[in-house]
Amino acid sequence: MTAGPSPSACADAFRDAYGHEPEGVWIAPGRINLIGEHTDYNDGFVLPVALPHALAAAAARRTDGVVRLRSRQSGEEFATRTSDLVPGSVPGWAAYPAGALWALAESGVRIDGLDLMVDSTIPSGTGLSSSAALTCATVLAAAHTHGASPDPARVAVLAQQAENGFVGMPCGIMDQSASMLATAGHALFMDTRSLETEQVPFDLAGRGLALLVVDTRAPHRHVDGAYAERRRSCEEAARVLGVPALRDVTAEGLPAALEALPDAVSRRRVRHVVTENERVLETVALLRSGDVHRVGPLFTASHASMRDDYEITVPEVDTAVDALLAAGALGARMTGGGFGGCVIALVEAQERESCLEAVRAAYRERGFAEPAGFTALPAQGARRVV
Ligand code: GLA
Repeated sequence: MTAGPSPSACADAFRDAYGHEPEGVWIAPGRINLIGEHTDYNDGFVLPVALPHALAAAAARRTDGVVRLRSRQSGEEFATRTSDLVPGSVPGWAAYPAGALWALAESGVRIDGLDLMVDSTIPSGTGLSSSAALTCATVLAAAHTHGASPDPARVAVLAQQAENGFVGMPCGIMDQSASMLATAGHALFMDTRSLETEQVPFDLAGRGLALLVVDTRAPHRHVDGAYAERRRSCEEAARVLGVPALRDVTAEGLPAALEALPDAVSRRRVRHVVTENERVLETVALLRSGDVHRVGPLFTASHASMRDDYEITVPEVDTAVDALLAAGALGARMTGGGFGGCVIALVEAQERESCLEAVRAAYRERGFAEPAGFTALPAQGARRVV
């Protein structure tokens, strides 16, 4: 995997495709979440970092109501008119940038038309938030070319609305916030109820550690339906418990909440969310005090909770986590929405390769596809680069 996309190559592709100059190039990164999974739509806490892997968008405003969307990877063009941008009308990848234009228009920015070329180094379908990068970069590019300058937190909200209201994916606000608000060298601690954020220093190299990301290459299975189903069961549990969101169930209140729930499945879902919020707070406290080594067991506990209580892992993911721990990782967990995607591990820097090799060996033994790996370095959030 290479890191960031080349803004000038994206601008060149724009010129080749459309025969005129882009007005600029905007970059939005992918992310990994350190801890706090499936907590964002429960008004809880998350702790993502932005990756160097990013999406570049070259764009120019048009004045004739036409929207042309192209991806450098696929070479396909999707063309429509601004007046035709209605939810459900755009298929495939183009739904994300189209949804970004729709959300911006819904917020009151008049969109006159747009030519857009996107180029990405975020592998799609691996849980590294390639779609959030696409919607964030498009909102930014379309806003700036139309004389609007929403602040980064507002862009994140519009990008989430694009997914919720146009694409039909009921995601929370974590991925878009990571892409817009993260800063190099930090993890982004976010309270998804108040939308307050704190940049928490995340310097692993200084402590001889590294964050290994393993792309399990497990195909996402039933992701959207299962995601929506988890969200619904959390909302239903909150209703039964008489709280606005599961965020309002504290660790002390958990035993009573579990007793009040009518079935074993909702008890498991609630236990995951409540304990995961606690783990985020503990992780943040350890990072603030510089006690990074002790974060490892929290990662591993988070994984067990996703596997046993939230039931969103798959054999490839569990195999990777087990192999990493057996090879000496301080902690390991699946990151992102689940059902495949990537695993992260906190490892001693000099053990990166042996840990990755342990996963490769375990995969060979089970006949899984060869996994990929890289070291995550917390990168900067979205910005205009040209
Ligand atoms: C996906 C969603 C996020 C979040 C994670 C799980 O990435 O887009 O909003 O819910 O899953 O933590």
